[in-house]
Amino acid sequence: MRFLGTEFERIVGIASGVLPPVKAVNERVCKEYSPAFLTSKTLTPYPMEPHKEPTVIKFHEGCYMNAIGLGNPGIEGIKESLVEGCRVIISAGGAKPEEFAEVARHSEGAFAVELNVSSPNRKGFGESTKDYLKDVIQAVKSATALPVIVKLGPWDNVVELAGKALEYGADALTLINTLKGKLYEIEGFTPLLSYGTGGISGRCILPLAVRIISEVYAEYEAQIIGVGGVLEWHDALMLMASGARLVGLASAIMERGFKAVREIEEGLREYFANKGLKPEDVVGIGVKR
Ligand SMILES: Cc1cc2nc3c(=O)[nH]c(=O)nc-3n(C[C@H](O)[C@H](O)[C@H](O)COP(=O)(O)O)c2cc1C
Repeated sequence: MRFLGTEFERIVGIASGVLPPVKAVNERVCKEYSPAFLTSKTLTPYPMEPHKEPTVIKFHEGCYMNAIGLGNPGIEGIKESLVEGCRVIISAGGAKPEEFAEVARHSEGAFAVELNVSSPNRKGFGESTKDYLKDVIQAVKSATALPVIVKLGPWDNVVELAGKALEYGADALTLINTLKGKLYEIEGFTPLLSYGTGGISGRCILPLAVRIISEVYAEYEAQIIGVGGVLEWHDALMLMASGARLVGLASAIMERGFKAVREIEEGLREYFANKGLKPEDVVGIGVKR
């Protein structure tokens, strides 16, 4: 499968947030599970403390809500995330365009930089930065020659924002980040997550990811990494049919461990072999109907 001018033998990789920026872990995951790509946790130019526990809850079978709040070790995390033998995407975050650019500037050796303008879990970061998307993309483009991927969330105006991201110079898009939610415990009615709200992920958001990827692909035929709700190989196939060329997992890793990467890849391979198809044949096939 071609993505950003590079031939990928595999489709299934790891989305941002479930790999700690710890070299030994990244090396082991790369070697044992051969993911198509590894995405780092979102890194900012300075270390940030996570929100207080609880930061992740499972509220339904295969469905999660998290508000870690971009806790990360800062620039240090880049060299911990880069490993030999795997394509690493560095997820960059910040509160200002120059901060995204600073992370990008230090990401030499990565396959690409992914701009997190979509996490709903810390005010001033993530989703708050989509309002100055143009400045963020342009600052990053002038700081690095690496391909730039923009990660967007499931907002009402996501198709319009995707068009703008591509117009401002994004080389590809990652769709989708989590959707903001809230739950209470029913003794004292305090929120279940310490931050109050959190990003909903996992099985529950598959239809949202399918709809958004399909709409964006129909409009721009962009290069897309599909993320959101993939727990089984047929979910990954559904994101490909929507227009995704590669597929990332986050909740599936929490549910099944890193072996989910290999199992979902194998499921896809078996499907393609049985149907006599190449992975390219299914990209956007649902949208064209
Ligand atoms: C525990 C957790 C931490 C996450 N951290 C990040 C992050 O640091 N940056 C980011 O862009 N997305 C982050 N995400 C979002 C995922 O990359 C992904 O977009 C989302 O969870 C939907 O995919 P899924 O349904 O496969 O989980 C996180 C998700 C989870 C569950």
